[in-house]
Amino acid sequence: VKRHLAVADLARDARFVRVSLEERFNDPRPAGGRVGAYGADKAKEEGAPGNGRATGASRRLSPERPGAPDAARALMHGIFVGEIQALEGAGRTCYDFDTGASRDEVPYALKLDMARQCWDEARHCEISVKLTEWMGTELGEFAEGTFLFEAACNPDPVLRLTGVNRALEGLAIDVFNTMREFGDVAGDPVLEFCEDWMLADEVTHVKMGSDWLRRLTADDPERRARALEFQSVVDKLFSGGGFRGDEESSPVRLARRFRQLAGFTDDEIDHIGEVSRLARVEAEQRQARVAAGGAG
Ligand SMILES: [Fe+2]
Ligand SMILES: [Fe+2]
Repeated sequence: VKRHLAVADLARDARFVRVSLEERFNDPRPAGGRVGAYGADKAKEEGAPGNGRATGASRRLSPERPGAPDAARALMHGIFVGEIQALEGAGRTCYDFDTGASRDEVPYALKLDMARQCWDEARHCEISVKLTEWMGTELGEFAEGTFLFEAACNPDPVLRLTGVNRALEGLAIDVFNTMREFGDVAGDPVLEFCEDWMLADEVTHVKMGSDWLRRLTADDPERRARALEFQSVVDKLFSGGGFRGDEESSPVRLARRFRQLAGFTDDEIDHIGEVSRLARVEAEQRQARVAAGGAG
């Protein structure tokens, strides 16, 4: 078997439709792409005040929000494809490196953690397929971005753990917690408990990232700095124009308590909140320029 598999070689059948990172970030619709757009389009149809943009108003995922079921379905489909790639990524990290103590090797115990993660992610794929069906969505109804797997292709295993386990699965913690609360207030115990079970595993996966980062870079501050920088780049990209944030009105709320359990310090959580706030301001300015007829 080939080591370091390219994203183009991932096995998918005809149901799956890829969307590139570029297409996703050039989407002129409000933060969160389709997720945010549903609320905005619906508000426009219903003659809501303003131009129908979610900007400024609360974009929190709640049953009262126009288009909330479709926003939840889109978010859940995103989680589903993320689970597939998390399984693929953890599997690659078990396989791509020899066991050892040098920089391009990994300790055997790290491979055991990644193997346990594969087991969890495979279960999450099955839960997600059933939950997606329960929510009335067909597999492939929404496009698949492949950034998670791309972050899992980093040649340095520590950067894989900060980019995937800490940044993207950290985001998964925020998303699962938001969806769990949405299931609770919407009166859907199937959604609520599915999210709760997956959330518990994600906290473990993020904690693995935090622990291995500290262990593997204990005597290598330069490698630790690079790994944290990669994490920060991924965090910024996936703050998706303020899609995830610390404010009550954010579509996906930063899950502070669960992040603490997953090995994030308060300073690190504050930093992500600040990065998200800046991403939101930038996105609002971009949307204002587009609305005024200027270039995005
Ligand atoms: Fe997962
Ligand atoms: Fe995970």
